[in-house]
Amino acid sequence: MKKFLIVLLAMFVALSCAAAEDTVTACDFETGVPAQFIQSGSAAPAVSNAVAHGGSSALHVKNRSGNNWDAVDLNAKALGIDVGVPTKISAWVWVDSEEEGTFVIAKAGGDYATLGSVTCPGREWTEITAEFNLDQPVNIRFQNLSENWNHAEYYLDDMVITVGEAPETVESTEPPLDYASDFSAGTDGWYARSAGTASVSVTDEQGLLIVGRTDTWNSPGRDFPLVTGKTYQLSVLVKQDQLDSVGFILSIAHSRDGSESYENLATCTARKGEWTLMQATYVAGRYDTHVFYVEGGHADTEFQIKDFVCTEQTLKYGKAGIPSLKDVYAEYFDFGTAVTGNEVLDADRMAFYESQFNIFTAGNEMKPDSLLNVGECIKAVRQGGDQTVVKVKFESCIPLLDWAQENGVKIHGHTLVWHSQTPEMFFHEGYSIKNPLVSREVMLARMESYIQQVLTWTNQNYPGVIVSWDVVNEAVADGSSKLRDSLWTQVVGEDFVNRAFEYARKYAAPGTLLYYNDYNSENTMKNLGIRRLLESLIAEGTVDGYGFQSHYTVNNTNMFYVKIAWKEIAKLLLKDGSPIRLRVSELDAGIAANTDANWQAQALFYDELMQLYMQYAEQLEAVQVWGTVDNLSWRADSYPLLFDAMSQPKPAFYAIVD
Ligand code: XIL
Repeated sequence: MKKFLIVLLAMFVALSCAAAEDTVTACDFETGVPAQFIQSGSAAPAVSNAVAHGGSSALHVKNRSGNNWDAVDLNAKALGIDVGVPTKISAWVWVDSEEEGTFVIAKAGGDYATLGSVTCPGREWTEITAEFNLDQPVNIRFQNLSENWNHAEYYLDDMVITVGEAPETVESTEPPLDYASDFSAGTDGWYARSAGTASVSVTDEQGLLIVGRTDTWNSPGRDFPLVTGKTYQLSVLVKQDQLDSVGFILSIAHSRDGSESYENLATCTARKGEWTLMQATYVAGRYDTHVFYVEGGHADTEFQIKDFVCTEQTLKYGKAGIPSLKDVYAEYFDFGTAVTGNEVLDADRMAFYESQFNIFTAGNEMKPDSLLNVGECIKAVRQGGDQTVVKVKFESCIPLLDWAQENGVKIHGHTLVWHSQTPEMFFHEGYSIKNPLVSREVMLARMESYIQQVLTWTNQNYPGVIVSWDVVNEAVADGSSKLRDSLWTQVVGEDFVNRAFEYARKYAAPGTLLYYNDYNSENTMKNLGIRRLLESLIAEGTVDGYGFQSHYTVNNTNMFYVKIAWKEIAKLLLKDGSPIRLRVSELDAGIAANTDANWQAQALFYDELMQLYMQYAEQLEAVQVWGTVDNLSWRADSYPLLFDAMSQPKPAFYAIVD
């Protein structure tokens, strides 16, 4: 009977444990590095059998360049280590140093707090343990704390990670975020982003002060529950009392699958003792965490922030019953816009854009700095690949291309070859700016490889979606008829534009229109340079048209010269005798301030432009504005677009749909 009771009791215990079972992951690194371990800084985690705690190999953290964050991180999310989940980690560490020091398990983000620590003598296996419930959604880092070990390679082995039950989550029906900082009762969820000594405290000016900074990124930060695709209005005041003036940046740190990335959203120069305002509009990307923070100054500048506001826009996009630009001009040319950042993640916003426009350009996401895969280029050469191997990646533009394909709208590609927004390493041997520039032959091979891959991938995955491309952007120098001096002219020579068009023609789907795109074509000398360049491309039969960028300022742009510029360029004939194709590729027209009088002047300006464009309707493929709403324009300070920050039509819109 007693035995039977014990069995019953044992069954009961087993059953109740099963309900709240821990997940245990053991890593002995005998067969490789599991995918949950990711590189931090310059350190490349690899398996080594130089030393081992058990078995014959261990995880080796090498290539450390002198920072304690050259380390290895554990992708917390991948193991179910979320906020509030009880977690235990134990591991053995062996540091390749003759000196003693401190090794830690720490948060790889947020406040970078230490979760577990151990003092180890050098070159001896020492056990380190940590037991914690994360209070911020961050990865876990295994790193040295002692600075004398910043270059020391180290090994980890026989790691056991025990993850408990996640706390119950309640389905939230949160109202839209409407946050205003309030430091009357404490730091209000703000903390110091720092791996060192920085800390925050409330001041008697109702501000939050950061002291003990040792790096410019040490900053007051706070986690915000942003919703992908939603638009947020941000503002904050910043003040410092140490220097005559200091630059500050309002930034966001976001992470996806454990890897953190950053965007700068606004900047200001704060004069000594003056509360200075920064404002921005941010469309939330597809990330797991979002931390707003204020950084800048010198590494040790102390400063305060206050009145931080983050409000979700709950507006309804557009306005019911207004005419549609694409319909108004349907008989004459396409009407389009540029979409950039995370705008495409908001279906309502995109539905509004689609109601107005039928052709779209990626504002940044198809430029060389988005599509070149720098890390993979370097890796391929290191692994013995030849210098001309170019690696590309397409994550940045897939959301817009998917959306265009699903909705049957056209894309104009921007841009294959440009001196700007192109990583400098592209022009150097081994893809390292420490090495000399490559030869003309290697650069041409890289150019061809890049153009081939971008055009082939887009044709295969999005057939018919990209109807035209800016093959080369801004090659002519300002105020001159010569080519701009750039790495392209230095490495390849004056014919780099011709070669780019040759390759683009070779790999573009038949019928794709190929454009040369530039600005300030109303400058007489530059206009001459643009025409000479177009003529040389026409002679080779590789170009279809010219794109007038058209970034104007209402009170400075002389319409007389704009008209002459159009007349001169429109006269050019292609090799087959037909008139050159034209497009307005990046139209915006800035004003000094948001006043009624300026809005009226802007409306007249847009109206005059449209009248000019109508004269060339036969040759004109498309008119595209460079953005739709003023607050998301690259020139947001000059309110240059057709819709205001609330996405309502401005007088300029009505002027051109009449
Ligand atoms: C601009 C983008 O709009 C910005 O977001 C980016 O920071 C810089 O580039 N001429 C061009 C465009 O051909 O690619 C530029 O776009 C604006 C000037």
